[in-house]
Amino acid sequence: MNPDIRIGYGEDSHRLEKGRPLILAGLNIPDSPHGSVAHSDGDALLHAVSDALLSSLALGDIGHYFPDTAIENKNLDSAIILRDALARVQAAGYALINVVAVVRLDKPKLGPHREEIQERLAKLLLLEKDCVGIGFKTSEGLAPNHVQTTATILLGKVN
Ligand code: C5P
Ligand code: MG
Repeated sequence: MNPDIRIGYGEDSHRLEKGRPLILAGLNIPDSPHGSVAHSDGDALLHAVSDALLSSLALGDIGHYFPDTAIENKNLDSAIILRDALARVQAAGYALINVVAVVRLDKPKLGPHREEIQERLAKLLLLEKDCVGIGFKTSEGLAPNHVQTTATILLGKVN
């Protein structure tokens, strides 16, 4: 079978430490008490969406293309990872239809930044804003020192 649509799913999590910037969708979230510990910029939202894109066509995962052991990937802007994943999907003859993502984080509140996060992700993915659904959840104190993300995407074959 050669389906016209494909689903993709990705996850990510990073430990949070005081004094580091919290980067989500390429945005530095203001007044965050902590930020991701990571080899790259630790953008857990872009990492989950990138893995979702790659998973949709069984292209592996971001660590395969951007190993966290490679010195050249130190502090890497995760927008580069996302654009690379999107380009691979497009090269295979598919277009992104929509994306939904959830960020699980106890602090800070992300609701005030939803519009900006949604707009930034839409811009990176070349989508309309209403094709980018973003939800926020706390861990209810179960993982106060972590940011955890999930993302699901839908692709359509380009004729
Ligand atoms: O986790 P919980 O369901 O209690 O979160 C309640 C609401 O708080 C969420 O629906 C979301 O709108 C908001 N929230 C937020 N920023 C977070 C976590 C949750 O704005 N970091
Ligand atoms: Mg990550």
